[in-house]
Parts: sequence; C-alpha cells; structure tokens
Amino acid sequence: MTCSLFLGTYTEVQTKMRKIPQGLRLGVATAAFQIEGGWNASDKTPSIWDNFCHIPGRVADGTNGDDTCKSYEFYQRDLKMLKFLGVDFYRFSVSWPRVLPNGFANKISKDGIGYYSKLVDELIAIGIEPVVTIYHWDLPQSLQDLGGWANPLIAEWFEDYARVLYNALGDRVKTWITLNEPKQFGIYGYGTERFAPDICSAGTGEYMVVKNMLLAHARAWHLYDKEFRPTQKGNCGITIATDFREGLTDSPADVEAGKLALDFEVGFYSHPIFSKTGGFPERVVKRIAEKSAEQGYPRSRLPELSKEEIALISGTSDFFGFNHYSSKFYTTETYKRGMFPIPSYNDDIGAVGTYGGYKEAPVIHTKKIPNGIRKALNWVKDQYDNPEIFITENGYGTSSGSNDLERIDYYKEYINAVLDAIEVDGCRVSTYTAWSLMDNMEWSSGIGAKFGLFEVDFNDDQKTRRPRASAFWYKDLIAKRTLDLEAKPQVEEISF
Ligand code: BGC
Repeated sequence: MTCSLFLGTYTEVQTKMRKIPQGLRLGVATAAFQIEGGWNASDKTPSIWDNFCHIPGRVADGTNGDDTCKSYEFYQRDLKMLKFLGVDFYRFSVSWPRVLPNGFANKISKDGIGYYSKLVDELIAIGIEPVVTIYHWDLPQSLQDLGGWANPLIAEWFEDYARVLYNALGDRVKTWITLNEPKQFGIYGYGTERFAPDICSAGTGEYMVVKNMLLAHARAWHLYDKEFRPTQKGNCGITIATDFREGLTDSPADVEAGKLALDFEVGFYSHPIFSKTGGFPERVVKRIAEKSAEQGYPRSRLPELSKEEIALISGTSDFFGFNHYSSKFYTTETYKRGMFPIPSYNDDIGAVGTYGGYKEAPVIHTKKIPNGIRKALNWVKDQYDNPEIFITENGYGTSSGSNDLERIDYYKEYINAVLDAIEVDGCRVSTYTAWSLMDNMEWSSGIGAKFGLFEVDFNDDQKTRRPRASAFWYKDLIAKRTLDLEAKPQVEEISF
C-alpha cells in the first residue's frame, strides 16, 4: 500500500508484527533540570532555569525545578524503573552548575561530579549503558551574567566543562551528546520570552547565539576526538530537533516555503556540521541578508562564519542525534507582513506554519503525524549521505491519567514508521529513545504536560512513580524485541 501526506509517497510494510532489527538499541531519556530537583543542594549554584522559574508568571502552572522528581536524592529508584523496562541504555544530562558551581573549570564540585559518577557506575552494574548529554539547557546563571551563549567566549567555557566530564566519566561513558537542541534554547531563549534566559532580542539575539553554539559544540568534539577518543574509544555528537516541515499545498510558493522552513528549523544547525560544503544553508543566509537590507541594517543580522570557522565546525559529529515529536506545514497564502514582530525569526521565514488537519493533541507540539518521522529520517539520509542516526527523543504529551492508550498508539505508529525508514528506505538508525522515563518539569509548561512512561505523584514528598500502561507496553516491546501493532499491555499496580 502507498500513503501520501500532502507531498511524497512511500511504500509501507503491511504487517501487524515486526521484529526490531538487531542493530537498533532501545532506551529512554531525561534531562537534569527536569528531574533532579536539589536545585541548591551542596555547593550547586542556580542555573538560568532555576531563576526563570522563580519569577512569578513565567511557568504556566507556577511550578519550578526546586524538587521535580527529586532524582538527585532518589536516583536509585530511577535505576529500578530502568531495570523494570529492560532498556539497553539511559540518556540523562549533567547539570553544569552542579558540577562547576562557578561555571568555570577552576572549581569542580566533589558532590556534583560524585553524583554522576555513582549514577554511571550503578547503571553499568545493572547492564544499562549511560548516554550522557553535556548540555540540556541549564546554563550556570554566573555565565549568563556574562552574556551566556551570546558571548563568544562560551565556546572555551563549554570546552573546559566538557573536558572535566570526559576526564571524570569518560573511562565509563562511551556516548556523549554535546548540546541538546540548539534551536530550542537559542530561538526560544534569545528571540522570545518562552524560555530562559528570556532575552527577547527577536531577529538578532537568536542568530548571534547559533554561531557560538556551533563553535562550542565543535570545540568539545575536537577535544574528544584528539585527546580522549584514542584511549576512551567512544562517540561524540550533537542532538538536533528534527521535526519535519513541508509545504501545506503543492503550489510552488508553499513547496518553497516548506523547504525554507526546514532549512531554518533544522538545516541551520545540521548543515554546518553534516553537509559537504559546510556553513549555513544558502536559503537561510540569503533570506536573512535580504530582509536585513530591506529593514535598513548595515549588514545581515546573521553573523557570518569565517572560512576557518566553517572548517572547524564541519564533520564534527560521529552520529546525527535526532529528536522528533511532530511535523508542520507551511503556506505563504495566509502570511501577512506584520503578523510576526519585525524583525524576527518567524518574519524571516515569511510563511505560516500549522499542524494541518490532524487530530488535536493535548500537547500541541506532539500532534501525531507518524509519516513525518519517516520523511525527516529520509531528509537526513538524502541531505547528508546517509549518516548513522541516533533517535535521541520521541514521545507524546498528555495532560493526565495512567491509562495512556493514546501515548501507546503514538509510539506504535512512530516506531512502525521508523522501521519502514530502516527496512524500506535504508536509513541507518541505530538508536531509538522514548521521551521520557517519567513525568517531569516540562520547562515553561510546568508539570502539567506529562511525557512519562511513569506517572509521578508531585504532591507526594516521596515523588512516587507508577508505571503507566505505556511503560508495560514498552517493557514488552523491549523484552520480545517485536513491535506488535495490536498489543494490549497487561497492567499491574506497582510503584517505585
Ligand atoms: C526537549 C525535552 C522536552 C521535550 C518535550 C524536547 O524539545 O529536549 O527537554 O521535555 O522536547 O517537549
């Protein structure tokens, strides 16, 4: 059978039971700020997210990251949950201000690094591989006070921080992810008020930081490659939000708007690292330069990458770290000048993006459009000569309840599309990661948006975790290494 989602046609494998390919490892992910709590434990200093959440009105439900799941205290219960699921690996992140309370590498917190070292040891002891994200958005406030990602020196600060982690954990950690989703913390944090550090410098701030992020990532990769890989023998890469974008209709203007949006949203970060030519995508460079000139700026609002910088960044990822939640469709038809602030990222794209007529989802950015993940995987394959892809996040948001059949449906259909991408299209996907192990602090949405395979009782001081139906379902998928599209999970009352 063939199926088409606005544009593009794919052949789908029609079977209700599919073997998970041998080379596909299955895991779950979390991030430090979202689960650890212990925001001022020992010598930890505040991150930009601690401070952002403490400002009244910034988080939808008024919650903060002070406690969340208390994993800093209760991580051993997380280990039991991981064991229960039977995952191959666990992707977690390190909190920069917990390890380096000054932000700089002149002082390493014994308790901070000790926490992650124990976590790594205990994961390995139960046969689960630790996959470590170096930066998942919780910058030390002390570095933000110096400009944060807008200060070019951050490339050095980040490299120093990465060195501390490679030195302390690299004998046991073999998979490193430098940055999680540069687009999200750059665009939302520096171009809008949605995320910390709430700089709101639309049309300029978010472009200044892209260059610094790419250089920071590249330095951390080169450091690993030259000084640590020879003895530690691991991999190091970056994770990019790779939600799919395409035209809403097949009019030439919409098709082009879809391509431009994909280059703005994904290619901006992936092109400099993975493309043969290096540097930012041409469409993006041209569009921002044109709009900047129209708006009377003496030069493009997008800082240039020099030849040396392009060369430094090019080829600096051992895999394509791929996060995916949903897809959007772009049209120029309903776009009107002035509907977005001028200048701004959205105005630069110059088209309106929507989730199309797909079924509503409780958390809008996880609308279920399974064919989109396949298209995104194929886009990466075609653009970048079929790199190895680690799906480092994929998941569905709900607002409540433990009988999360909708989440199971989402996972079934997305994993099915991933298997089509591997088996029919030849995409080299070797890792699939469900987001998330448990409910957590969903950034400025607070604890109201639930992404967990495990439900967390946030009113209870023990932050008791209970497996949802989806946890039983994922456990079964992992144990049988089979995707059964008709499987119904056997649920039991247990807690951790
Ligand atoms: C982020 C996660 C977040 C998830 C769900 C991703 O963009 O990496 O931290 O919780 O989306 O919104």
